[in-house]
Amino acid sequence: MLSIPPNAPFTPEQVGWLNGYLAARIQVQSGGPSTAPTASEASTTGLPITILWGSQTGNSESLAKRAAKSLGSKGHQVTVTDMAQVEPQSLPQIENLFIITSTYGDGEPPDNAAELHEYLQSDKAASFENTNYTVLGLGDSEYPDFNQCAKDFDTALEKRGAKRITPLIESDVDYDEPFDQWLADITESLSALA
Ligand SMILES: Cc1cc2nc3c(=O)[nH]c(=O)nc-3n(C[C@H](O)[C@H](O)[C@H](O)COP(=O)(O)O)c2cc1C
Repeated sequence: MLSIPPNAPFTPEQVGWLNGYLAARIQVQSGGPSTAPTASEASTTGLPITILWGSQTGNSESLAKRAAKSLGSKGHQVTVTDMAQVEPQSLPQIENLFIITSTYGDGEPPDNAAELHEYLQSDKAASFENTNYTVLGLGDSEYPDFNQCAKDFDTALEKRGAKRITPLIESDVDYDEPFDQWLADITESLSALA
C-alpha cells in the first residue's frame, strides 16, 4: 500500500489526511465491487473539520491533537487551533466545529478561551446556521461549577443556530474514556453528514 514516509515534512494531521486520501484514490482506481469503498467509507471521507481547544495546563490541547490524528487517519481534513488564535467573527464560516475545553477558576473559561467565550455570550455573536458542532468538556466534579465552560459553549452555539451533531460530553479528571466515547459518537455522526 502506497503511503507517506514517516520522515516526510508533514505534521501528523497532514500525514493522516494524505494517507486517507491515497487509500481512497487507490481503492477507486483499482475498481471492481470488491475494492470500491463502501457507502459509509466514501461518505466519511474528506470533511473539513476545525478543532478549537481551550486549555490552561495542556490536557485539552493534547486531546485536540489526538482527535485530529484519529479523524485525519479516516481521511478528514483537520485543523487544530488554539482558541486565542481565532478571529471570533470568522467562526460561522466553519462547517464542522469541534470544541474541547476545560473549566477554570470558579466555572470560568481557561485564559485562552476567555475572549471567544465572552463573544459567544454577547449580542455581537453572529448566526451559526451553517455550522455543525460538538463539545467535549474537561473538568473536575469536586468543583461546584462542573464543566461550566463547556456547557456555556454548547448552549451558546445552539442558541446561535449551530447544529449539535453529538451530545455534550462532560468528563471528569479521568478523561480518556469520555474522550474515546466522544470520538466514537463523532465518527458515527459524521458518516450520516456527507
Ligand atoms: C485552579 C483550578 C480551578 C478549576 N476549576 C474548575 C471548575 O470550576 N470546574 C471544573 O469542572 N473543573 C475545574 N478545574 C479542573 C480542570 O478543568 C481539569 O483539571 C482539566 O482537566 C484541566 O484541563 P486543561 O489542562 O486543558 O486546562 C479546575 C482546576 C484548577 C487547577
